[in-house]
Amino acid sequence: MSPRQTPPLLLSRVRPYGEGDPVDVLVVDGRIAAIGPDAGADAPDGTETHDLGGAVLLPGFVDLHTHLREPGREDTETIATGSAAAVRGGYTAVFAMANTQPAQDNQTVTDSVWRIGREVGLCDVHPVGAVTVGLKGEQLTEMGQMASGEAGVRIFSDDGMCVYDPLIMRRALEYSAGLGVLVAQHAEEPRLTRGAVAHEGPTAARLGLTGWPRSAEESIVARDAILARDAGARVHICHASTTGTVELLTWAKGQGIAITAEVTPHHLLLDDTRLETYDGVYRVNPPLREEHDTLALRRALVEGVIDCVATDHAPHAAQEKCCEFAAARPGMLGLETALPIVASLLVETGDMTWRDLARVMSTRPAEIAGLTDQGRPIEVGEPANLAAVDPDSEWTVVGEELASLSANTPYEGMSFSARVVGTVYRGRLVSRDGEVVA
Ligand code: DOR
Ligand code: ZN
Repeated sequence: MSPRQTPPLLLSRVRPYGEGDPVDVLVVDGRIAAIGPDAGADAPDGTETHDLGGAVLLPGFVDLHTHLREPGREDTETIATGSAAAVRGGYTAVFAMANTQPAQDNQTVTDSVWRIGREVGLCDVHPVGAVTVGLKGEQLTEMGQMASGEAGVRIFSDDGMCVYDPLIMRRALEYSAGLGVLVAQHAEEPRLTRGAVAHEGPTAARLGLTGWPRSAEESIVARDAILARDAGARVHICHASTTGTVELLTWAKGQGIAITAEVTPHHLLLDDTRLETYDGVYRVNPPLREEHDTLALRRALVEGVIDCVATDHAPHAAQEKCCEFAAARPGMLGLETALPIVASLLVETGDMTWRDLARVMSTRPAEIAGLTDQGRPIEVGEPANLAAVDPDSEWTVVGEELASLSANTPYEGMSFSARVVGTVYRGRLVSRDGEVVA
């Protein structure tokens, strides 16, 4: 449906950025038409009205790192079910990682993912293009074709795998600079993580699990910062997980290197003591680290050293998670729990305002991806991509109740105060109180 066919929408009693008294926000033709205590007075005939009871209104969230599993593993997630999870979580744009089967390493696949996302129509689905053919790290893909295709691919990543060969990475960065696109690196030196399933430290040693050292991540972050500097290119670091990565980002940004980084909600909240139960739900790449890492990551996000939150939403089938720890697939669900986690760790503690949260979950990721109609301020004339959050809606996570086709949430049974209660995408209310509105 084009925005023109969408009826006008009145969001009554919302608090933009959680600031001031509740106001009404009128949306017409996909854009914000009026904001104020009497905005409803201007509502044309046929306006759909929703009373949000004083909810915090934020720009719709943008996820630079989502795994949607289509094509290839539609038993675990599809573009439709992943889009539903996204809008229930307040996301109005997601970047679908390239490690599908077949991989998103050519224009046919990236354009197909883009088209399916459009047909589903719940949020923007931007396919990420692979950097190398089959994510094998050997031969560069036709990045230019994917960038100039219908999908207009703007982020390239072999996520799941590292572009480990420095010469291939150097060339990828050089081409990306020429094309005006972004390479996002899964920083993992594979020679240092062979057989690794857990963070290398006292917990893994005690549990008898093969360790993944911080240096496997940090050596690639340092290398890629230097390669980006010399190529005059931008580089983005996926799922930063260590104190040392924060230090390297601080250094690289101080040098004027065009480096950006994301952190996942699970690396902000959880540490490797969770592994005591050997529950495969806690297996993830990069692994859960130690408490000081989580604290350094939180601080880095508050200070802007880490630019944004990205979910790394990684659905897996029950049989791939409910097994011996070392055999479990790495990855955990993230789209529907990101906002509650970031709010509880950083807003409820007073470390961030809602406006700061909007920066790390919407504005900065939209800027990093070069999106012009997402992550926009809540102002008259701006596109209506919005998320409404009830900051006081005690709720408990139940994996089976999530919109995702998979249930591998590490937060099962955990309670949070904040919850997304409404999502507006291109002027249309697409989710309300956990229900997706078709
Ligand atoms: O835990 C992870 N899962 N990390 C990745 O890099 C890939 C992802 C997946 O595709 O399941
Ligand atoms: Zn990754």
